[in-house]
Amino acid sequence: MQEIVDRVMAEDEAAGIARRLLFPYLNHAATMFESGYATKDDIDAAMRFGCGYPIGPLDLIDALGARAVADGLAHLHDETDDQLHVPAPLLGRLAASESTFADEAAASATADSPVGHHAVGKVGVVGTGTMASGIVEVFAKAGHDVVYVGRTDEKAQAVQARIEKNLDRAIAKGKLDESGKSDVLDRLTAATEREALGDVDIVVEAIAEDLDVKLQLFSDLDRICKPGAILATTTSSLSIADCAEATSRPADVIGMHFFNPAPVMKLVEVVTADGTSREVADTVKSLCLDVGKHPVSCGDRAGFIVNALLFPYLNDAVTLHESGVPMGDIDEALKATRLPMGPFELLDVVGNDVSLAIQRTLVSAFGHPGWQPAASLEKVVAEGRLGRKTGEGFHTY
Ligand code: CAA
Repeated sequence: MQEIVDRVMAEDEAAGIARRLLFPYLNHAATMFESGYATKDDIDAAMRFGCGYPIGPLDLIDALGARAVADGLAHLHDETDDQLHVPAPLLGRLAASESTFADEAAASATADSPVGHHAVGKVGVVGTGTMASGIVEVFAKAGHDVVYVGRTDEKAQAVQARIEKNLDRAIAKGKLDESGKSDVLDRLTAATEREALGDVDIVVEAIAEDLDVKLQLFSDLDRICKPGAILATTTSSLSIADCAEATSRPADVIGMHFFNPAPVMKLVEVVTADGTSREVADTVKSLCLDVGKHPVSCGDRAGFIVNALLFPYLNDAVTLHESGVPMGDIDEALKATRLPMGPFELLDVVGNDVSLAIQRTLVSAFGHPGWQPAASLEKVVAEGRLGRKTGEGFHTY
């Protein structure tokens, strides 16, 4: 921890780059906490388990000192005149009273007793892309029978091939044996018709981020799934309430937002709409723990916790590069603060098209002019340089 503090507060150019990108992100986390959108523990856990950060943003402010962060932001605001760089009111108060977010969270903590949950056995997954494959893998490895639905046999087979590749990698590393691999594969059932989901206890959908497509799916799930089945979406940008409205059972509809790569990243954002029942939320949180994931709770709002904090920071990195700072210097400066990937590396992993779509959703939901997508992000997407998946993005692969 002290090593990170020393790196961020160092006098050199790399530390200047890190502070330029991290302080607005920390300020936004402070604002998110102050608004009551999520708890301190959930905000910190979300960035640790969703993005592999060594420390959550509010813990990082406590380690750096609220005074240092507030002063750094005030200095940045003098340069940029961007309202997003005005220190959050709570940050200013903590700086003045030499207090911490940990103290603030302890003072505002309320007891939250679970209402109980029901058992989940068989799982359904809809979709065959990267996220869907990862989610199928998570549940099958944890011992659940999984039926997954793709639009064609070829797409469904590609899911099995991706999972086999990951299992083979685990065997090569001595973490799994052949019988463990066949146990996992035996739990998988591929289907091309949604009717195959009639007897599952929960469906997690990871299909295209298009509201009309999702609404059709939720109306199908409402018709097909047995009473009491939980209907979950892993959407990162659409409203859970909108999906719920397409069904006759909004209390059973919930968000389960997994992170990329799903088999590795431990976070699931459990997103409840106003109509989601407490029992369904508790059941999903308990299921996450059973399959080795860390659930955090948040409301049905654009970007949830992680994307709302992460993508403006990634966008700021692109803007900083446009001002003349080399991409490699930015990636290295952030990795020196122990982030697992530099911003341009991560943009290329997530996909620049996905990142641009998320950033646009955030701008339309929150309206901050400072979050307008950077011109070069628009440009790489227009040129088809989408990241690792196309062999070229900000970097070349
Ligand atoms: N599928 C399955 N397993 C994978 C994998 C994949 N695609 N990629 C890596 N792994 C496994 C490896 O096998 C390895 O497992 P073991 O140690 O058990 O063998 C483990 O992950 C670590 O991999 P590596 O050692 O090869 O690589 P690493 O140490 O560089 O870690 C990383 C890779 C975990 C991805 C790390 O770089 C990281 O945490 N990056 C940040 C990723 C991130 O921020 N994701 C969130 C993006 S935002 C999002 O997803 C939300 C949205 O809505 C878009």
